[in-house]
Amino acid sequence: MTTNPGHSTDSPPPASATRANAVVELRGIKKKFGSVEVLHGVDLSIHAGEHVVIFGPSGSGKSTLLRSINLLEQPDEGSLRVLGVEYGPMKCSKMERGSPLALRRQVGMVFQQFNLFPHLTVLGNVTFALRRAKGVSREAAEERAVEALESVGLVPWAAHYPSQLSGGQQQRVAIARALSLDPKVMLFDEPTSALDPELVGEVLAAMRKLAESGMTMVIVTHELNFAREIGDLNVFIEGGNIVECGGREIFDSSTNPRTREFIGAVL
Ligand SMILES: Nc1ncnc2c1ncn2[C@@H]1O[C@H](COP(=O)(O)OP(=O)(O)O)[C@@H](O)[C@H]1O
Ligand SMILES: [Mg+2]
Repeated sequence: MTTNPGHSTDSPPPASATRANAVVELRGIKKKFGSVEVLHGVDLSIHAGEHVVIFGPSGSGKSTLLRSINLLEQPDEGSLRVLGVEYGPMKCSKMERGSPLALRRQVGMVFQQFNLFPHLTVLGNVTFALRRAKGVSREAAEERAVEALESVGLVPWAAHYPSQLSGGQQQRVAIARALSLDPKVMLFDEPTSALDPELVGEVLAAMRKLAESGMTMVIVTHELNFAREIGDLNVFIEGGNIVECGGREIFDSSTNPRTREFIGAVL
């Protein structure tokens, strides 16, 4: 793990924290909407199996940062590398550069709104994504979809329609849909924020299980108790800058007044 600025320990980054072995590496990422810059040069490295939590006030740039990782937002400046391949605007040789389509095959994303097709069954929602992205046969897609649904405990609901499911179940379908494509990293943008409180736990449980399986995950969330449990690297962002990042100790013993104030207001 390497980040800048304000890592909350004084120790140097581990020797392994090089460009070569980062799954996702952002360097100097800037993003403007019109004339307003909302990311001011973000540096962040995410390594295999790491679970990174991004938290901070509304409007601080969390979604823009996350969406930059799969180019749903196009950064204006900086380097975005995923598994060593450059996708950002930074100049590099043709050999090093990948296409947005190739990037999205590696990066799964789950949104606050589940974005399921209402006219397709649970199984249909997962196989549709698979067949479109990978062009596999119906049989192969169904086999893979059932595996993915199994991992979120929804095989019994495969023939149901989204409207017959709770919000928590729908979000678990969205997770299965992303997982079925075998991503190398999964991005979650406030995956529980649209849910009734009693449904939050089942989605967090599915994410916990995924984390335990070793998936590399980047999670924007206000669920700081969950972050405390799962976050290997916790990143506090405000006003388009990383203010501080660190391990679980950030929640109890951050020395940064802004981080403390924010955590104190949420927890
Ligand atoms: N598509 C857009 N067009 C214009 N401004 C945007 C757009 N998306 C986000 N913004 C602005 O960028 C800033 C950061 O937004 P966002 O990344 O959504 O913050 P967060 O996810 O932390 O709430 C906000 O000021 C927001 O209004
Ligand atoms: Mg957001």
